Amino acid sequence: MLQDKRVLLIIGGGIAAYKALDLIRRLRERGVHLRAILTKAGGEFITPLSVASLTGEKVYTDLFSLTDEAEMGHIRLSREADLVLVVPATADLMASMAHGIARDLATTALLATDKPVMIAPSMNVQMWNHPATQRNLRTLEGDGILRVGPGSGDLACGEVGDGRLADVMDIVAAADRFFDRAMVANRPLAGKRALVTAGPTHEAIDPVRYIANRSSGKQGYAIAEALAALGAETILVSGPTTLPDPAAVTTVRINSAREMLAACEAALPADVAVCVAAVADWRMADDAAQKIKKNGGAPPMLNLVENPDILATLSSRAKDRPALVVGFAAETEKVIEHARAKLGRKGCDWIVANDVSPATGIMGGDDNTVHLVSRAGIEDWPPASKADVARRLAQRIADHLKEPTA
Ligand code: CTP
Repeated sequence: MLQDKRVLLIIGGGIAAYKALDLIRRLRERGVHLRAILTKAGGEFITPLSVASLTGEKVYTDLFSLTDEAEMGHIRLSREADLVLVVPATADLMASMAHGIARDLATTALLATDKPVMIAPSMNVQMWNHPATQRNLRTLEGDGILRVGPGSGDLACGEVGDGRLADVMDIVAAADRFFDRAMVANRPLAGKRALVTAGPTHEAIDPVRYIANRSSGKQGYAIAEALAALGAETILVSGPTTLPDPAAVTTVRINSAREMLAACEAALPADVAVCVAAVADWRMADDAAQKIKKNGGAPPMLNLVENPDILATLSSRAKDRPALVVGFAAETEKVIEHARAKLGRKGCDWIVANDVSPATGIMGGDDNTVHLVSRAGIEDWPPASKADVARRLAQRIADHLKEPTA
Protein backbone atom coordinates (compact mmCIF):
# COMPACT_ATOMS: atom_id res chain seq x y z
CA MET A 1 0.00 0.00 0.00
CA LEU A 2 2.85 2.39 0.73
CA GLN A 3 4.66 1.99 -2.59
CA ASP A 4 4.96 5.37 -4.39
CA LYS A 5 2.89 7.23 -1.80
CA ARG A 6 4.01 10.78 -0.98
CA VAL A 7 4.34 11.61 2.69
CA LEU A 8 5.20 14.95 4.25
CA LEU A 9 6.86 14.21 7.60
CA ILE A 10 6.85 16.97 10.21
CA ILE A 11 9.39 16.29 12.94
CA GLY A 12 8.60 18.02 16.22
CA GLY A 13 10.98 18.86 19.05
CA GLY A 14 10.95 16.01 21.52
CA ILE A 15 13.41 13.43 22.71
CA ALA A 16 11.65 10.90 20.44
CA ALA A 17 12.66 12.95 17.38
CA TYR A 18 15.53 10.52 16.79
CA LYS A 19 12.98 7.77 16.15
CA ALA A 20 11.75 9.79 13.17
CA LEU A 21 15.04 8.84 11.50
CA ASP A 22 14.23 5.14 11.81
CA LEU A 23 10.69 5.86 10.58
CA ILE A 24 12.11 7.54 7.48
CA ARG A 25 14.19 4.44 6.76
CA ARG A 26 11.24 2.08 7.20
CA LEU A 27 8.97 4.17 5.00
CA ARG A 28 11.63 4.54 2.32
CA GLU A 29 12.20 0.77 2.31
CA ARG A 30 8.50 0.47 1.43
CA GLY A 31 8.75 2.83 -1.53
CA VAL A 32 7.41 6.01 0.11
CA HIS A 33 8.54 9.36 -1.31
CA LEU A 34 9.29 11.51 1.71
CA ARG A 35 9.73 15.20 2.25
CA ALA A 36 10.48 16.43 5.75
CA ILE A 37 9.99 19.62 7.74
CA LEU A 38 12.18 19.81 10.81
CA THR A 39 10.90 22.28 13.42
CA LYS A 40 13.37 24.54 15.19
CA ALA A 41 12.86 22.50 18.37
CA GLY A 42 13.24 19.26 16.38
CA GLY A 43 16.57 20.61 15.15
CA GLU A 44 17.77 20.66 18.76
CA PHE A 45 17.53 16.87 18.81
CA ILE A 46 18.49 15.75 15.30
CA THR A 47 20.23 17.55 12.46
CA PRO A 48 18.85 18.53 9.06
CA LEU A 49 21.78 16.67 7.53
CA SER A 50 20.76 13.31 9.00
CA VAL A 51 17.14 13.85 7.88
CA ALA A 52 18.24 14.86 4.37
CA SER A 53 20.62 11.89 4.11
CA LEU A 54 17.79 9.48 4.90
CA THR A 55 14.97 11.09 2.88
CA GLY A 56 17.28 11.79 -0.08
CA GLU A 57 15.56 15.20 -0.31
CA LYS A 58 16.20 18.70 0.90
CA VAL A 59 14.91 19.30 4.45
CA TYR A 60 12.64 22.29 4.98
CA THR A 61 13.08 24.22 8.20
CA ASP A 62 12.29 27.89 7.78
CA LEU A 63 9.07 29.67 6.84
CA PHE A 64 10.93 32.83 5.97
CA SER A 65 13.71 31.23 3.95
CA LEU A 66 13.93 32.93 0.56
CA THR A 67 15.39 29.87 -1.11
CA ASP A 68 12.84 27.45 0.37
CA GLU A 69 9.90 29.66 -0.59
CA ALA A 70 11.24 30.25 -4.10
CA GLU A 71 11.98 26.56 -4.69
CA MET A 72 8.91 25.02 -3.09
CA GLY A 73 6.72 27.33 -0.99
CA HIS A 74 4.88 26.25 2.12
CA ILE A 75 1.57 25.86 0.29
CA ARG A 76 2.96 23.46 -2.31
CA LEU A 77 4.89 21.60 0.34
CA SER A 78 1.69 21.03 2.28
CA ARG A 79 -0.34 19.97 -0.75
CA GLU A 80 2.06 17.75 -2.68
CA ALA A 81 1.59 14.84 -0.31
CA ASP A 82 -0.93 12.04 0.08
CA LEU A 83 -0.55 12.12 3.85
CA VAL A 84 1.01 14.49 6.40
CA LEU A 85 2.64 12.65 9.31
CA VAL A 86 3.59 14.51 12.51
CA VAL A 87 6.22 12.49 14.40
CA PRO A 88 6.74 13.20 17.22
CA ALA A 89 3.67 15.36 17.76
CA THR A 90 4.59 17.42 20.81
CA ALA A 91 2.07 19.03 23.18
CA ASP A 92 3.04 22.36 21.62
CA LEU A 93 2.42 21.17 18.05
CA MET A 94 -0.93 19.65 19.03
CA ALA A 95 -1.93 22.91 20.73
CA SER A 96 -0.95 24.94 17.66
CA MET A 97 -2.90 22.59 15.39
CA ALA A 98 -5.97 22.68 17.64
CA HIS A 99 -5.95 26.49 17.69
CA GLY A 100 -4.94 27.12 14.10
CA ILE A 101 -1.73 28.84 15.05
CA ALA A 102 0.74 29.23 12.19
CA ARG A 103 3.94 30.67 13.53
CA ASP A 104 6.58 28.62 11.72
CA LEU A 105 6.90 26.42 8.63
CA ALA A 106 5.54 23.25 10.29
CA THR A 107 2.45 24.87 11.82
CA THR A 108 1.81 26.94 8.68
CA ALA A 109 1.98 23.81 6.49
CA LEU A 110 -0.39 22.03 8.90
CA LEU A 111 -2.87 24.88 8.60
CA ALA A 112 -2.46 25.18 4.83
CA THR A 113 -2.73 21.50 3.96
CA ASP A 114 -5.81 20.01 2.34
CA LYS A 115 -4.51 16.48 2.90
CA PRO A 116 -5.18 13.98 5.71
CA VAL A 117 -2.96 14.47 8.76
CA MET A 118 -1.84 11.72 11.16
CA ILE A 119 -0.14 12.54 14.45
CA ALA A 120 2.02 10.31 16.66
CA PRO A 121 2.03 12.15 20.01
CA SER A 122 5.00 11.92 22.34
CA MET A 123 5.41 13.80 25.62
CA ASN A 124 5.67 13.50 29.38
CA VAL A 125 2.75 11.69 31.04
CA GLN A 126 1.61 14.80 32.93
CA MET A 127 1.68 16.86 29.76
CA TRP A 128 -0.36 14.19 27.98
CA ASN A 129 -2.91 13.95 30.79
CA HIS A 130 -3.15 17.71 31.26
CA PRO A 131 -6.70 18.93 30.62
CA ALA A 132 -5.37 21.35 28.01
CA THR A 133 -3.72 18.58 25.97
CA GLN A 134 -6.77 16.34 26.32
CA ARG A 135 -8.98 19.25 25.22
CA ASN A 136 -6.75 19.84 22.23
CA LEU A 137 -6.84 16.15 21.43
CA ARG A 138 -10.63 16.16 21.33
CA THR A 139 -10.57 19.21 19.07
CA LEU A 140 -8.13 17.50 16.74
CA GLU A 141 -10.22 14.32 16.68
CA GLY A 142 -13.25 16.44 15.85
CA ASP A 143 -11.26 17.95 13.00
CA GLY A 144 -10.65 14.47 11.59
CA ILE A 145 -6.97 14.27 12.51
CA LEU A 146 -5.79 10.65 12.60
CA ARG A 147 -3.70 9.43 15.51
CA VAL A 148 -1.37 6.58 16.32
CA GLY A 149 -0.36 6.15 19.98
CA PRO A 150 0.90 7.28 22.35
CA GLY A 151 1.91 4.09 24.08
CA SER A 152 2.44 3.57 27.77
CA GLY A 153 5.60 2.68 29.68
CA ASP A 154 8.93 4.15 30.79
CA LEU A 155 9.34 7.68 29.51
CA ALA A 156 12.63 9.38 28.68
CA CYS A 157 12.07 11.82 31.55
CA GLY A 158 12.15 8.93 34.06
CA GLU A 159 8.42 8.90 34.74
CA VAL A 160 6.08 6.06 33.80
CA GLY A 161 2.73 6.28 32.00
CA ASP A 162 1.10 7.38 28.76
CA GLY A 163 3.10 9.54 26.40
CA ARG A 164 5.58 7.20 24.70
CA LEU A 165 5.84 7.60 20.97
CA ALA A 166 4.15 4.64 19.26
CA ASP A 167 6.60 2.02 18.00
CA VAL A 168 8.00 2.96 14.62
CA MET A 169 6.54 -0.18 13.03
CA ASP A 170 3.13 0.67 14.50
CA ILE A 171 3.33 4.08 12.81
CA VAL A 172 4.26 2.38 9.52
CA ALA A 173 1.31 -0.01 9.95
CA ALA A 174 -1.07 2.89 10.69
CA ALA A 175 0.05 4.69 7.52
CA ASP A 176 -0.38 1.47 5.58
CA ARG A 177 -3.91 0.99 6.94
CA PHE A 178 -4.74 4.58 6.05
CA PHE A 179 -3.75 4.04 2.41
CA ASP A 180 -5.53 0.68 2.37
CA ARG A 181 -8.79 2.31 3.50
CA ALA A 182 -8.31 5.19 1.06
CA MET A 183 -7.85 2.68 -1.72
CA VAL A 184 -11.03 0.81 -0.85
CA ALA A 185 -12.93 4.11 -0.86
CA ASN A 186 -11.49 4.98 -4.29
CA ARG A 187 -12.05 1.51 -5.66
CA PRO A 188 -15.69 0.69 -4.95
CA LEU A 189 -15.61 -2.22 -7.42
CA ALA A 190 -12.68 -3.98 -5.73
CA GLY A 191 -13.55 -7.68 -5.43
CA LYS A 192 -16.12 -7.48 -8.25
CA ARG A 193 -15.83 -9.02 -11.71
CA ALA A 194 -16.93 -7.15 -14.82
CA LEU A 195 -17.45 -8.45 -18.35
CA VAL A 196 -17.54 -6.03 -21.30
CA THR A 197 -18.11 -6.75 -24.99
CA ALA A 198 -16.88 -4.25 -27.55
CA GLY A 199 -16.13 -3.67 -31.20
CA PRO A 200 -17.75 -5.31 -34.20
CA THR A 201 -17.85 -8.99 -35.01
CA HIS A 202 -16.70 -10.27 -38.39
CA GLU A 203 -18.76 -13.04 -39.95
CA ALA A 204 -16.90 -14.80 -42.72
CA ILE A 205 -18.50 -15.05 -46.15
CA ASP A 206 -15.43 -16.74 -47.49
CA PRO A 207 -11.72 -16.58 -46.51
CA VAL A 208 -11.40 -12.94 -47.74
CA ARG A 209 -14.83 -11.36 -47.21
CA TYR A 210 -16.95 -10.78 -44.14
CA ILE A 211 -20.15 -9.19 -42.84
CA ALA A 212 -19.73 -6.61 -40.07
CA ASN A 213 -21.35 -3.64 -38.33
CA ARG A 214 -19.62 -0.29 -38.02
CA SER A 215 -17.90 0.01 -34.64
CA SER A 216 -14.64 1.58 -33.50
CA GLY A 217 -14.77 -0.10 -30.09
CA LYS A 218 -13.92 3.20 -28.37
CA GLN A 219 -16.92 3.35 -26.03
CA GLY A 220 -16.62 -0.28 -24.94
CA TYR A 221 -12.87 -0.02 -24.34
CA ALA A 222 -13.38 3.15 -22.30
CA ILE A 223 -16.01 1.37 -20.18
CA ALA A 224 -13.70 -1.59 -19.55
CA GLU A 225 -10.93 0.79 -18.52
CA ALA A 226 -13.25 2.80 -16.24
CA LEU A 227 -14.55 -0.35 -14.51
CA ALA A 228 -10.97 -1.55 -13.96
CA ALA A 229 -9.99 1.86 -12.59
CA LEU A 230 -12.70 1.48 -9.93
CA GLY A 231 -11.12 -1.83 -8.93
CA ALA A 232 -13.16 -4.40 -10.88
CA GLU A 233 -11.39 -7.44 -12.28
CA THR A 234 -12.39 -6.73 -15.87
CA ILE A 235 -12.55 -8.99 -18.91
CA LEU A 236 -13.02 -7.31 -22.27
CA VAL A 237 -14.21 -9.56 -25.09
CA SER A 238 -13.44 -7.61 -28.21
CA GLY A 239 -14.10 -8.07 -31.88
CA PRO A 240 -11.50 -6.81 -34.38
CA THR A 241 -10.49 -3.18 -33.67
CA THR A 242 -7.40 -1.06 -34.15
CA LEU A 243 -7.33 -0.07 -30.46
CA PRO A 244 -4.61 -1.22 -28.05
CA ASP A 245 -5.63 -3.41 -25.08
CA PRO A 246 -6.85 -1.12 -22.26
CA ALA A 247 -4.71 -0.86 -19.13
CA ALA A 248 -5.35 -3.31 -16.26
CA VAL A 249 -7.95 -5.24 -18.27
CA THR A 250 -7.82 -8.85 -19.54
CA THR A 251 -8.60 -8.53 -23.24
CA VAL A 252 -9.82 -11.55 -25.19
CA ARG A 253 -9.78 -11.02 -28.96
CA ILE A 254 -12.34 -12.87 -31.06
CA ASN A 255 -13.76 -12.54 -34.58
CA SER A 256 -17.29 -13.85 -34.80
CA ALA A 257 -20.47 -13.56 -32.72
CA ARG A 258 -20.32 -17.21 -31.79
CA GLU A 259 -16.74 -16.82 -30.58
CA MET A 260 -17.81 -13.72 -28.62
CA LEU A 261 -20.59 -15.67 -26.89
CA ALA A 262 -18.26 -18.56 -26.04
CA ALA A 263 -15.65 -16.15 -24.61
CA CYS A 264 -18.32 -14.36 -22.55
CA GLU A 265 -19.69 -17.61 -21.14
CA ALA A 266 -16.16 -18.73 -20.29
CA ALA A 267 -15.64 -15.44 -18.42
CA LEU A 268 -18.60 -16.01 -16.06
CA PRO A 269 -19.36 -15.63 -13.23
CA ALA A 270 -19.37 -11.84 -13.29
CA ASP A 271 -21.15 -9.27 -11.14
CA VAL A 272 -21.86 -7.03 -14.09
CA ALA A 273 -21.92 -7.50 -17.86
CA VAL A 274 -21.90 -4.51 -20.20
CA CYS A 275 -22.61 -5.44 -23.82
CA VAL A 276 -21.35 -2.64 -26.01
CA ALA A 277 -20.35 -4.73 -29.04
CA ALA A 278 -21.99 -4.10 -32.38
CA VAL A 279 -22.59 -7.78 -33.02
CA ALA A 280 -23.40 -8.73 -36.62
CA ASP A 281 -26.99 -9.92 -36.62
CA TRP A 282 -26.46 -12.57 -39.29
CA ARG A 283 -23.80 -14.97 -40.45
CA MET A 284 -23.54 -17.29 -43.41
CA ALA A 285 -25.37 -20.56 -42.98
CA ASP A 286 -22.24 -22.14 -44.47
CA ASP A 287 -19.21 -19.94 -45.14
CA ALA A 288 -17.31 -20.93 -48.27
CA ALA A 289 -14.05 -22.75 -47.71
CA GLN A 290 -12.56 -21.13 -50.86
CA LYS A 291 -12.79 -17.58 -52.16
CA ILE A 292 -16.06 -17.15 -54.10
CA LYS A 293 -15.17 -16.29 -57.72
CA LYS A 294 -17.20 -13.90 -59.87
CA ASN A 295 -16.78 -15.99 -62.99
CA GLY A 296 -18.88 -13.42 -64.88
CA GLY A 297 -22.14 -14.93 -63.57
CA ALA A 298 -24.90 -13.62 -61.28
CA PRO A 299 -23.88 -12.37 -57.80
CA PRO A 300 -23.97 -15.17 -55.24
CA MET A 301 -26.99 -15.51 -52.98
CA LEU A 302 -25.93 -15.19 -49.35
CA ASN A 303 -27.80 -17.70 -47.29
CA LEU A 304 -27.87 -16.07 -43.83
CA VAL A 305 -28.86 -17.33 -40.40
CA GLU A 306 -29.30 -15.28 -37.25
CA ASN A 307 -26.45 -14.99 -34.78
CA PRO A 308 -26.88 -15.69 -31.08
CA ASP A 309 -27.87 -12.62 -29.11
CA ILE A 310 -25.16 -12.31 -26.47
CA LEU A 311 -26.96 -9.70 -24.37
CA ALA A 312 -30.20 -11.69 -24.32
CA THR A 313 -28.35 -14.94 -23.60
CA LEU A 314 -26.49 -13.43 -20.63
CA SER A 315 -29.68 -11.81 -19.34
CA SER A 316 -31.70 -15.02 -19.39
CA ARG A 317 -29.15 -17.39 -17.89
CA ALA A 318 -30.55 -19.44 -15.03
CA LYS A 319 -27.06 -20.06 -13.66
CA ASP A 320 -24.47 -17.32 -13.21
CA ARG A 321 -26.62 -14.48 -14.51
CA PRO A 322 -24.64 -11.32 -13.66
CA ALA A 323 -26.42 -9.25 -10.97
CA LEU A 324 -26.51 -6.36 -13.42
CA VAL A 325 -26.71 -6.74 -17.20
CA VAL A 326 -26.36 -3.58 -19.27
CA GLY A 327 -26.99 -3.30 -23.00
CA PHE A 328 -26.50 -0.52 -25.51
CA ALA A 329 -28.97 0.63 -28.10
CA ALA A 330 -27.52 2.40 -31.07
CA GLU A 331 -30.52 3.94 -32.81
CA THR A 332 -31.10 6.36 -35.62
CA GLU A 333 -34.68 7.34 -34.70
CA LYS A 334 -37.19 7.06 -31.80
CA VAL A 335 -34.23 6.43 -29.53
CA ILE A 336 -36.07 6.11 -26.20
CA GLU A 337 -38.98 4.14 -27.62
CA HIS A 338 -36.66 1.60 -29.23
CA ALA A 339 -34.46 1.45 -26.13
CA ARG A 340 -37.46 0.68 -23.92
CA ALA A 341 -38.60 -2.05 -26.27
CA LYS A 342 -35.07 -3.47 -26.31
CA LEU A 343 -34.94 -3.50 -22.51
CA GLY A 344 -38.01 -5.76 -22.45
CA ARG A 345 -36.98 -7.90 -25.41
CA LYS A 346 -33.45 -8.58 -24.21
CA GLY A 347 -34.33 -9.02 -20.53
CA CYS A 348 -31.41 -6.85 -19.41
CA ASP A 349 -31.52 -4.38 -16.49
CA TRP A 350 -30.37 -1.16 -18.15
CA ILE A 351 -30.03 0.07 -21.69
CA VAL A 352 -27.66 2.88 -22.55
CA ALA A 353 -29.26 4.44 -25.59
CA ASN A 354 -27.70 6.80 -28.07
CA ASP A 355 -28.56 8.35 -31.39
CA VAL A 356 -26.01 7.24 -33.95
CA SER A 357 -27.46 9.05 -36.97
CA PRO A 358 -24.53 10.14 -39.17
CA ALA A 359 -25.24 13.80 -38.31
CA THR A 360 -24.41 13.20 -34.63
CA GLY A 361 -20.81 12.13 -35.40
CA ILE A 362 -21.01 9.63 -32.53
CA MET A 363 -20.09 6.61 -34.63
CA GLY A 364 -16.29 6.51 -34.62
CA GLY A 365 -16.10 9.90 -32.86
CA ASP A 366 -14.80 10.71 -29.37
CA ASP A 367 -18.01 12.14 -27.85
CA ASN A 368 -21.36 10.65 -26.97
CA THR A 369 -24.80 11.72 -25.72
CA VAL A 370 -26.63 8.92 -23.95
CA HIS A 371 -29.80 8.14 -22.04
CA LEU A 372 -29.82 5.53 -19.30
CA VAL A 373 -33.06 3.58 -19.61
CA SER A 374 -34.13 1.23 -16.83
CA ARG A 375 -37.40 0.03 -15.40
CA ALA A 376 -37.13 2.87 -12.89
CA GLY A 377 -37.16 5.52 -15.61
CA ILE A 378 -34.90 7.47 -17.92
CA GLU A 379 -31.85 9.57 -17.16
CA ASP A 380 -30.71 11.99 -19.87
CA TRP A 381 -26.98 12.46 -19.55
CA PRO A 382 -25.37 15.60 -20.96
CA PRO A 383 -23.07 15.38 -24.00
CA ALA A 384 -19.64 14.18 -22.87
CA SER A 385 -16.52 12.45 -24.11
CA LYS A 386 -16.77 8.68 -24.42
CA ALA A 387 -14.23 8.47 -21.57
CA ASP A 388 -16.49 10.60 -19.33
CA VAL A 389 -19.59 8.60 -20.24
CA ALA A 390 -17.59 5.47 -19.36
CA ARG A 391 -16.50 6.88 -15.99
CA ARG A 392 -20.03 7.97 -15.14
CA LEU A 393 -21.45 4.60 -16.10
CA ALA A 394 -18.77 2.75 -14.08
CA GLN A 395 -19.57 4.87 -11.02
CA ARG A 396 -23.31 4.28 -11.54
CA ILE A 397 -22.64 0.53 -11.73
CA ALA A 398 -20.57 0.70 -8.51
CA ASP A 399 -23.39 2.57 -6.73
CA HIS A 400 -25.95 0.06 -7.97
CA LEU A 401 -23.95 -3.00 -6.92
CA LYS A 402 -23.61 -1.47 -3.46
CA GLU A 403 -27.30 -0.58 -3.18
CA PRO A 404 -29.39 -2.13 -5.96
CA THR A 405 -32.26 0.08 -7.13
CA ALA A 406 -34.14 -0.75 -10.29
N1 CTP B 1 -26.33 -7.53 -28.93
C1 CTP B 1 -25.75 -8.74 -28.62
N2 CTP B 1 -25.76 -9.75 -29.50
C2 CTP B 1 -26.35 -9.61 -30.68
C3 CTP B 1 -26.97 -8.40 -31.04
C4 CTP B 1 -26.94 -7.37 -30.13
O1 CTP B 1 -25.19 -8.86 -27.52
N3 CTP B 1 -26.35 -10.63 -31.53
C5 CTP B 1 -26.35 -6.46 -27.95
C6 CTP B 1 -25.47 -5.29 -28.28
O2 CTP B 1 -24.17 -5.46 -27.76
C7 CTP B 1 -26.22 -4.15 -27.57
C8 CTP B 1 -27.66 -4.58 -27.67
O3 CTP B 1 -27.65 -5.96 -27.89
O4 CTP B 1 -25.91 -4.10 -26.22
C9 CTP B 1 -28.44 -3.91 -28.73
O5 CTP B 1 -27.85 -4.07 -29.97
P1 CTP B 1 -28.58 -3.59 -31.29
O6 CTP B 1 -27.75 -3.98 -32.45
O7 CTP B 1 -28.98 -2.17 -31.14
O8 CTP B 1 -29.87 -4.46 -31.19
P2 CTP B 1 -30.50 -5.54 -32.05
O9 CTP B 1 -30.90 -6.66 -31.18
O10 CTP B 1 -29.61 -5.88 -33.20
O11 CTP B 1 -31.81 -4.81 -32.50
P3 CTP B 1 -32.20 -4.03 -33.84
O12 CTP B 1 -31.22 -4.49 -34.88
O13 CTP B 1 -33.58 -4.45 -34.07
O14 CTP B 1 -32.08 -2.58 -33.48
